[in-house]
Amino acid sequence: MNNKGNTKIRIFSGTRPTGFLHLGNYLGGLKGYLDLQNKQNYDCIYAVVDLHGITSPYDSKTYQDKIREVVLEYLACGLDPKKCHLLIQSQVPQHVELAYLLGTLYPVSRLEQLPTYKEKKKEQPHYMNMGLLYYPVLMAADILLYKTQFVPVGKDQGPHLEVTREIARIFNRRFGKTFPEPQIYLTSSSYIPSLTGEGKMSKSKEGSYINLVDDLRTIKIKLARVPTDTGKGKKVPQKGGVAVLLALVEIFEGEEKRKDYEKLYLEKGIQYKSLKEELAIAIYKELKPIQKKRKYFEENPELVNEILEQGRKHASRIAKQTILEVKQKMGIV
Ligand code: AMP
Ligand code: TRP
Repeated sequence: MNNKGNTKIRIFSGTRPTGFLHLGNYLGGLKGYLDLQNKQNYDCIYAVVDLHGITSPYDSKTYQDKIREVVLEYLACGLDPKKCHLLIQSQVPQHVELAYLLGTLYPVSRLEQLPTYKEKKKEQPHYMNMGLLYYPVLMAADILLYKTQFVPVGKDQGPHLEVTREIARIFNRRFGKTFPEPQIYLTSSSYIPSLTGEGKMSKSKEGSYINLVDDLRTIKIKLARVPTDTGKGKKVPQKGGVAVLLALVEIFEGEEKRKDYEKLYLEKGIQYKSLKEELAIAIYKELKPIQKKRKYFEENPELVNEILEQGRKHASRIAKQTILEVKQKMGIV
């Protein structure tokens, strides 16, 4: 896609290379990426944010493979290099440069108060590095570097988007209007709950997710472990395993099917075994073509390299312009 000046609406989003993508990433993040790449006059940049990924424990020996996984899954899900640009964040060094510059404008105390930071403190108490505190600033830099207007992400990223908007305002106030205030773009399933029945579906929570690469047998095993109840009651549960199953039924089998189950719950009772069987099949039906496409790109590494190189060139061009403008305004050049 060509970028003719500032006439196009800029979209940016990213995913950390923390392993295979799961249904939460797909429904909350990627579905939004796909919506937007298909709109006329949008210039979309979708990144693998490898510099964010290293703020949590990771294996340096397999990290390049993990990055590649995300690129393959992006392509497999339907991101089309004719309609959007794919990027590895670290290949455009201006992300880090802008993060440093923006970091000088934002109070540390606010970063310490962010719910995402507090969660990480609990999750990885022995890995509390400087990068974690800086995480939202680097994310703001990712977004503002391209003067992004919309950011397709799941609801869990709301607080980070707010920091980004605040940084844009602070910068604009001090140095003159430079950045648009980016808005979150939510999909219809912007929060996918965990299969354990508690919290969100997340890579860092064992037993919480279904991966896009899972086969039917694996999906069945994972669903079988979702905690349920007797299948009958006066009120359909709004929380816990049953609520998760019904949410997934709605997404993969439709709203009507969910309503049927809700009625059963209040009357005759639900047979979870058959609900889970049917649901597994419906999920796998959506994942199967993705897995097939993934294989194609896996077998064509040169094509993937070419796509990434084009993405890097496109992003670099914009990034260089923004950094120059920011430095001029901040009095650095
Ligand atoms: P991450 O793997 O945390 O880098 O997330 C990549 C994308 O997936 C982001 O847009 C997240 O908001 C989205 N995402 C991750 N987990 C979920 C979830 N459980 N529900 C909805 N969206 C999610
Ligand atoms: N923090 C995001 C997540 O965990 C990943 C991310 C980093 C991102 N930089 C971004 C998302 C810029 C959107 C835009 O999902």
